[in-house]
Amino acid sequence: MSPIETGRVIIVGAGLAAQYAALKLAPRPVLMISPEALGTGASSAWAQGGVAAAMDPADSADAHARDTVTAGAGTVDPGVAASVTAEARDHILDLIGLGTPFDRTANGGYVLSREAAHSFARVVRVQGDQAGAEIMRALTAQVREADHIQVLEGVTATGLEVSGGRVTGVAVARCDRGQSASITLRGTAVLLAGGGSGGLYALTTNPPRIRGQVIGMAARAGAQIADAEFVQFHPTAMACGLDPAPLATEALRGEGATLVNRQGERFMLDAHPDADLAPRDIVARAVYAQTQAGLAPALDTRPALGAKILTDFPAVAAACQQAGLDPVTQVIPVAAAAHYHMGGVATDADGASTLPGLWACGEVASTGLHGANRLASNGLLEALVYGRRCARAIDAALPAPTVAAPVTLPDLPAAQTPNPALVARLRQAMTDGAGVIRTADGLNRTLTEIAAIEAAQPGCETLKNMTATATLIAAAALMRRESRGAHFRSDFPHPDGATGIRSLMTLTDALAIRATMTRKEPA
Ligand code: SIN
Repeated sequence: MSPIETGRVIIVGAGLAAQYAALKLAPRPVLMISPEALGTGASSAWAQGGVAAAMDPADSADAHARDTVTAGAGTVDPGVAASVTAEARDHILDLIGLGTPFDRTANGGYVLSREAAHSFARVVRVQGDQAGAEIMRALTAQVREADHIQVLEGVTATGLEVSGGRVTGVAVARCDRGQSASITLRGTAVLLAGGGSGGLYALTTNPPRIRGQVIGMAARAGAQIADAEFVQFHPTAMACGLDPAPLATEALRGEGATLVNRQGERFMLDAHPDADLAPRDIVARAVYAQTQAGLAPALDTRPALGAKILTDFPAVAAACQQAGLDPVTQVIPVAAAAHYHMGGVATDADGASTLPGLWACGEVASTGLHGANRLASNGLLEALVYGRRCARAIDAALPAPTVAAPVTLPDLPAAQTPNPALVARLRQAMTDGAGVIRTADGLNRTLTEIAAIEAAQPGCETLKNMTATATLIAAAALMRRESRGAHFRSDFPHPDGATGIRSLMTLTDALAIRATMTRKEPA
C-alpha cells in the first residue's frame, strides 16, 4: 500500500512526554499515534509519586542535581542533571497554568513528599498519589482542544521508515480490534515518546502495552541505544497476583510506612543507614532476597497512616481493595517489579537521536539524567524537560509551518499479533535471567531463549520490536562485568571504580553477542 504523506510532525505515544511536546509544537501541525484512548494506557497516568522539583525556598536545584548524581551510581551526566533540575520549577508553574491542581499548603507553598535518596522533601504531588493521573487529565483536556494536534486513537506504531540514513516515516497499524497490516505515514519529523520496557518482565508495574516496542523499533532502524542494561525494579509492587502489579508508592515510606517480613522483622534496618528510604536499588534487592528466602516481605502502613491511607493515598487504597486487602488492618505483601527503564534511545541535549529526522523523549529515551539508578520522581521531570526541548529543536530544524489536512487511515487487512504464549515466555526469560540479580550463565540462557522466541513467529513486527529491546537489555547486561546501581551481577558484585562508563550499543552489536551465545548451546 502506498505511503501516506503528511505535513505533520508524527509523535509516537500519548503519555506525558508526547502530549507536552505536542502542545509545545503549536502551531505546527502534529499527528499523535495513541494505541489506547488518549490519556489512558501510558505509564505517566499511573505515576503515583509526582514530579521532583526544588519548590521549597530552603531547597535548591543544585541539591536536587547532587542527589540525582549520587543516586545514579557514577553514570549520571552531571551537566544533564544540572540543566534538568534547573528547569524543574518552570515546568511545575507551567503545569499549574495548564490546569494541574498540585497540593498546596495553607500559606501558598507546595505539599512536598519525601522519597528515597532525596536529601529534601521535594516531590510535588496531587491528592497524595494522584499526580500522574491528574497531570494527564489536565494535558489531555488541552490536547483535545488544540487545533494543531490530530490524535489517531486505536493505532500503534510498528516500525520506522529510513531512507538515505534519515528517518522519514512511521509504519502504523490499527490495534483496536486485533492488529492490522501496517501502512507508512511520512511526516516532517518523527518524535518517539512511547514509553519504556517494564512489561518485558513477568512482574511489572507498567501498563500492559508497555513492552519495549518503541525502543525496539528505533534500534531496528539503526539508532544507538544507551544504558540498556539499567532497568529499575520498584521494591514495593503489590504481590497480590495481579498483572500488572499495582504500585504502593515510595511516598508511603516517606510518611513512615516500614518494610517487614513474616517474622515481623524490619529487614531494612540492617541493610542500609537510611533503612526504608535507602536508594531504590538497595531496597529492591533486599525485598527480592526476602521473597527468595520465602520470608514474605510486606509494607506496614498501619502505625504511620492508619485509616488515613484510604483518603491520602486513594490509588493504593483502590488497588488494595481490588486485591482483597484492607491496608488499615493488614500489611501489604510486596515484591520487586520492573518499573522504569533508565536505558533507551541515546539522545543529545535537544532529544535528537543518532538518526537524522528522529527525536526521542520520556522513558523511551536515555538522556544521561538517570544513570544506573533513577532518583524517584525524576522520570516525569525528564519527560517535561525533554518534551519541550524536543518540540523546540524539531521546530528549529523545519521550515515554517504550513496547514496540514487531517490524516485518514484506509481499511487495512488483518496481520499477526504477538502469540501470547511467546510473550509470556519472553517475560519469564527476562525475569529469570535479566532481572534483579544477574549472572553470565543466566544472561546467556535468556539471550538463547529470546532468539528462539523471535524465530518462532518471524512474521510479527511487534514481537520483533519486543525481542530487539530484550536482546539489547540482556546483551548490555552481559557486557557490563560489574555491579552498578540497578544492574547487579552476583558474579561481579562490586562496581568497577567510582564512576562508570555509559554503555552504547546498536542492535547489530547486541545481535552479534546473542549469536555467540546461541552457538554455544548444545545441538
Ligand atoms: C513511586 O511513587 O514510588 C514511584 C515514583 C517514581 O517511580 O518516580
